[in-house]
Amino acid sequence: MFSSASLKLWICTALVLASPAPTPVQMAERATCTVSSVASAGDLSGCTDIVITAFTVPSGSTLEITAATGATIVMKGNVEFAKTDAEGPLMHFDTKNVNFNGNGYSFIGNGELYWDTQGGNGGVYKPGPLLKFDGYGTFANFNVKNSPVQAISIGVRDGQSHFKNITVDNSDGDKDKLGHNTDGFDLGSVHDVVIQDSKVYNQDDCVAIGKGSNIVFKNNYCSGGHGISIGSISTNGYARNVTISDNTVVNNKYGLRIKVKKSATNADVTDVTYSGNTVTGASKYGVLITQSYDEDFGTPGTGSQLSGINFSGTMNTIAATGDGLKVGVDCGNCTGTWDWSALTVTSGKTSQLVLDNAKITGGSY
Ligand SMILES: *[C@@H]1O[C@H](CO)[C@@H](O)[C@H](O)[C@H]1NC(C)=O
Ligand SMILES: *[C@@H]1O[C@H](CO)[C@@H](O)[C@H](O)[C@H]1NC(C)=O
Ligand SMILES: *[C@@H]1O[C@H](CO)[C@@H](O)[C@H](O)[C@H]1NC(C)=O
Ligand SMILES: *[C@@H]1O[C@H](CO)[C@@H](O)[C@H](O)[C@H]1NC(C)=O
Repeated sequence: MFSSASLKLWICTALVLASPAPTPVQMAERATCTVSSVASAGDLSGCTDIVITAFTVPSGSTLEITAATGATIVMKGNVEFAKTDAEGPLMHFDTKNVNFNGNGYSFIGNGELYWDTQGGNGGVYKPGPLLKFDGYGTFANFNVKNSPVQAISIGVRDGQSHFKNITVDNSDGDKDKLGHNTDGFDLGSVHDVVIQDSKVYNQDDCVAIGKGSNIVFKNNYCSGGHGISIGSISTNGYARNVTISDNTVVNNKYGLRIKVKKSATNADVTDVTYSGNTVTGASKYGVLITQSYDEDFGTPGTGSQLSGINFSGTMNTIAATGDGLKVGVDCGNCTGTWDWSALTVTSGKTSQLVLDNAKITGGSY
């Protein structure tokens, strides 16, 4: 005599054996999987719900979360990364259409155990980034504390992604300028990404949009670093259709910056709109748009092209401080009419503009 459970099992087994075709609906089960160690994340392919509990990733290890399409991922504790000489990323998300909720928990990088003022340029080996997201989904409500170098890197997307309510707090690295190259968000090769309602306290770019299209960076707070950057753009690189709106940038070297490598060819920055941003305490430039990178201002390259760089919509209010210039534009190959009607720069040293073929209308700077 079959018990009802074993009958069900028998039927399921029989169905599976009989037809590898679509699994009958009544067999679909929601599997909840707990990630409490590197090993327990080994195979998450059958998990519709993934729960990450508090644990420490040991030295030498990295944590891989390859989630099933549509999975829900929640945190129930902090994930800490022991000091390591493993290569970054120390944690990698490979996802399709997931919903990740950090519930306010943190990824703790222990950057203070590495920091020596040199960042990625030398000294103590520092793994970066701490977190890398490939694929797509919604990722919300988590913190990164003290990443050794770059905090969050966002890579190739197949769909749309939404990052919101994230705090990157590397402010401990301000002490004796020990923290360096601690970028908040780095966008590698992406499209259709929104980052909003987030805070970055660091010593390098708040966000760096290296290559991508259809990107929105809105309502974020950037403190202490190098401001909101498009770039650096290299050969074959581009940034297209980017909206930077309603952000607050406090005590950064640059407020709003576009940096294109002097050497870049077959590259462009096209259709960037700044709206409603507030910058205070920019110590080098309130706004810098340059094709001379790594230099701020120099002999710009001509192999990349900039067009459609607008300050429009809601007023952008910018204040540079100390020796900081209000606005710098260093174009070797810029074109079109740029609408700067929503730009007011209230303090800083005199702007310096080399526009090539671009024309600016409006604005007070
Ligand atoms: C943002 O995340 C924090 C926890 O880090 C949480 O308390 C807060 O409710 C979240 N805000 C929103 C709007 O979801
Ligand atoms: C520009 O990006 C926005 C936001 O991602 C998107 O809604 C819009 O369709 C894009 N525009 C074009 C012309 O692709
Ligand atoms: C400007 O850059 C574009 C895009 O890379 C390129 O096609 C064009 O030849 C460049 N113009 C000059 C004068 O170099
Ligand atoms: C930027 O401003 C110019 C001049 O007004 C306009 O032609 C262009 O469509 C604007 N670009 C965007 C992306 O709004």
